[in-house]
Amino acid sequence: MPAALLAATARPRAVPARSPARAATVPRPPPAFASRRPEGGGRHPAAASASPPPRASRASAARASSSADDDAPPRPPTRVAVFVSGGGSNLRALHAAMLDGRVRAEVCCVVTNLPDCGGASWARDRLGVPVLTYPAKKSDPSSGLTAAELVRALEVEHAAKYVCLAGYLRLIPPELCRAFERKMLNIHPALLPAFGGKGMHGMNVHEAVVRSGARVSGPTVHFVNEKFDEGKILAQAVVRVDPGVDAAEDVAAKVLEKEHEIFADALGALVDGRVEFREEDGVPIVREGRG
Ligand code: GRF
Repeated sequence: MPAALLAATARPRAVPARSPARAATVPRPPPAFASRRPEGGGRHPAAASASPPPRASRASAARASSSADDDAPPRPPTRVAVFVSGGGSNLRALHAAMLDGRVRAEVCCVVTNLPDCGGASWARDRLGVPVLTYPAKKSDPSSGLTAAELVRALEVEHAAKYVCLAGYLRLIPPELCRAFERKMLNIHPALLPAFGGKGMHGMNVHEAVVRSGARVSGPTVHFVNEKFDEGKILAQAVVRVDPGVDAAEDVAAKVLEKEHEIFADALGALVDGRVEFREEDGVPIVREGRG
């Protein structure tokens, strides 16, 4: 099963971020982008300084001018906040999909609990977007934002419409779940509802898969609600696991490659307004095409 697309709903409380899926892959033409900043959109004090002009903005400007002949006014790019705790390969994959037009959005800021992690450093140095720290260290409350400050920073200062949890390994506060209900996606490196929940993150997940003898694994993209890894599934992709050959590291590598595909596809569908929620139970369903 190469890439099925499923989905979910969200309701608030402290939710750990860890989990992914395959949104329908549809070749799409480059969108019309126009760079837009939130009005009065300054940086939050806890945002680390970000310097060079964002690459996304330069690319967006190029696209905007190349579409100047279009009759329809260019649609401003949708603003997406991305949360990271690790190397940031999913952040880079999302950004690449934004640049090549698969996702009509831009990264407006990055949030991390580890300001020195690879993803946060790349966001600061290469992407040039503000990097916010959440949560603060217990020993130093001024080192990061409170939950209320985080919600305000995302909603008001950075005007984020969607949130992507791209390997963020801390709890998501209930107020953020409420503020971004059905607007926050997480990627999990296994096929939920199996291999999810407390302790199921990073290599733990892949080790559990290999131990179980499961013949398949794959990422799940799901909406975030207040229950750990339990939000409705939006997309999944499947990779083969050979119990005689594959170690946890092999499974992790195969799954990560699929993560990069389906996270972008799922976000692209959400941004395009192609995600509908099944009436009886809120299961998200992706409509093919472009919004
Ligand atoms: C990914 O496998 C993600 O699903 C998991 O942690 C890993 C993060 O990778 N939660 P990266 O930081 O995006 O490279």
